[in-house]
Amino acid sequence: MEVIESVHAMQEKAEALRLKGYTMGFVPTMGFLHEGHLELMRVAKRHCDILVVSIFVNPTQFGPDEDFEKYPRDMEGDMEKAEGVGTDILFVPGADDMYPQGFQSGVKVSDLTKKLCGISRPVHFDGVTTVVTKLFNAVKPDMAVFGQKDFQQLTVISRMVKDLNMDIRIIGVPTVRESDGLAMSSRNKYLTREERESALSLNASLEMAEAMFKKGERSAEKIREAVASFIKGHPFTEIDYVSLCDPDTLEEMDLLGEKNLLALAVKVGATRLIDNRVISGSA
Ligand code: PAJ
Repeated sequence: MEVIESVHAMQEKAEALRLKGYTMGFVPTMGFLHEGHLELMRVAKRHCDILVVSIFVNPTQFGPDEDFEKYPRDMEGDMEKAEGVGTDILFVPGADDMYPQGFQSGVKVSDLTKKLCGISRPVHFDGVTTVVTKLFNAVKPDMAVFGQKDFQQLTVISRMVKDLNMDIRIIGVPTVRESDGLAMSSRNKYLTREERESALSLNASLEMAEAMFKKGERSAEKIREAVASFIKGHPFTEIDYVSLCDPDTLEEMDLLGEKNLLALAVKVGATRLIDNRVISGSA
């Protein structure tokens, strides 16, 4: 595995590989890699000749009161894990290289980013779309792989790629969970044992909602209420949102249809967790 630390060196390498006719797959991450990230890499590897993984904790997608400073990092462990799944190039640009003196440009997706996480994290998605565009311009991939764990992020990136004619295929991968159902996240490390116990209520509530849907419940409000009261029944939890929306537009629904996204953001202690499930099927 080759480690590349500058944008310029990455661009030169990408150009040389493309000229040789290799297809490039890309998995952008913020590091502290877990099985969820590794699964994206395995999927990407199946679709390309050369797998590039980036690790960059992007300051511009964190709000002022968020966890940028204490975001967990483990470069040594990450290198071993990335190499273990067949990463060919690990791209780890520095912040000064990504955001040089005088930086003032950005990419914005307007409507999708105002919903769900965009309500409590108003600058987050502008940071994500800008950094992902910059990473795409450095790596020049044919395809890029993202997790459905961050469903809104995947939706926003897919929209951006389509709207701006970026010639990159976006592939979504289902959420990887711990054996007890907790969605894997670098932020799970922050949870105490008791908080982790309460965090299981997120996935359990998604399962409960799906069971309600399967039994014939179609009122979005009833399902939102049942999910919220289930989560509130667990200590340390504070709900940011419970959304039942259209998976393409992220518009809130009144009545469930054939395909519905149930998405949650919940603070458990000081840690904000997200989870979601697409609930589908006809009556
Ligand atoms: P990060 O949180 O490190 O996640 C990197 C990728 O891993 C994202 O596509 C995310 O959806 C995926 N992922 C995380 N947990 C997962 C899980 N349990 N199952 C499946 N996939 C999972 O998302 C980001 O970084 C950043 O916003 C980034 C896109 C790198 C831009 O800075």
